[in-house]
Amino acid sequence: MFFYKVAQKVMFQMDPEVAHNIAIGSLKNTGNNPLNLFYSQNVSAAPVTCMGITFNNPVGLAAGLDKDGESIDAFHAMGFGHVEVGTVTPRPQPGNEQPRLFRLKPAKAIINRMGFNNKGVDNLVRNLMAKKTDIIVGVNIGKNKDTPVDEGKNDYLICMEKVYQHSDYIAVNISSPNTPGLRTLQYGELLDDLLSSLKAKQAELAEKHNKYVPIALKIAPDLTTEEIEKIAQSLLKSKFDGAIATNTTLTRDAVVGLDNANEMGGLSGKPLTDLSTKVIKQLAEFLNGEIPIIGVGGINSAEDALAKFDAGSQLVQIYTGFIYQGPGLINDIVNAYKAK
Ligand SMILES: Cc1cc2nc3c(=O)[nH]c(=O)nc-3n(C[C@H](O)[C@H](O)[C@H](O)COP(=O)(O)O)c2cc1C
Repeated sequence: MFFYKVAQKVMFQMDPEVAHNIAIGSLKNTGNNPLNLFYSQNVSAAPVTCMGITFNNPVGLAAGLDKDGESIDAFHAMGFGHVEVGTVTPRPQPGNEQPRLFRLKPAKAIINRMGFNNKGVDNLVRNLMAKKTDIIVGVNIGKNKDTPVDEGKNDYLICMEKVYQHSDYIAVNISSPNTPGLRTLQYGELLDDLLSSLKAKQAELAEKHNKYVPIALKIAPDLTTEEIEKIAQSLLKSKFDGAIATNTTLTRDAVVGLDNANEMGGLSGKPLTDLSTKVIKQLAEFLNGEIPIIGVGGINSAEDALAKFDAGSQLVQIYTGFIYQGPGLINDIVNAYKAK
């Protein structure tokens, strides 16, 4: 897409977070008017049913790019099959100090330690109510930084209750490396308790609103095989609706020596591709086809996406590859998916 190549040249000269804010601002202001022709594209239909929802195509925007759900209609115009907004927390919070977003261009990678900067769940709900298109929207929920981890469950329940009516699915993020202690929710009793409480809340809300909204758990790539097996057992036990694998990695092996490689935070993009595919493959084996997987992590080409499907994903999501390749990547993946 020519327009994206030009825009990317300009944006890559800027500080990454300034570029991000300008991009989201322009998408927000153009998503529903003729100016969206600069990035609109026709993506052929490739329907996939997952978690009981039929998606127009299997390619979604991963969480974290549109945290406050400000530009949903613009991503619809680009041809995404779904958008995952968030991570959102009950109360607004500023996130970590800047700079907190770094490009590692030679590796087609990003390191971020944003720390769930967002305007809070009430603001997100207003944006969800204002969107004009019917694109499938997942809402990714988390906990505020100042909520102690052992009380974290309440933050997820608060968010779930508020977004339930306005989302097509809900993603439970316990895998960001940038909220201290968050990843401890991936283990043992804390995990079982969180999953069963969320399922109980889902049952209550499904009855109240006469609408079943599936919930999926988003996990980290930095897990041992035993830890993946335990998570799979917890998901099966609680009858969770889906899994999203993976979030960013704390590992740096693939980027040693590159500028910014020593920045703290989560690494995404090409260096994450194989690690995330490996986690998906193991998770798929342990889940035994009983719970669907959304594959995300380092998809930078149609080939990378096909590897995620082969590993056992029903849908895929992109973030860093979308920044480096632009909206054309959506078409590339959908066409390759249809041809497979
Ligand atoms: C700048 C940035 C912010 C992110 N914020 C979130 C977030 O708020 N919640 C979340 O679940 N994942 C977040 N992610 C992780 C992505 O959704 C995705 O799981 C990860 O980047 C791997 O995919 P990718 O290699 O295609 O980027 C973020 C990623 C980046 C690069």
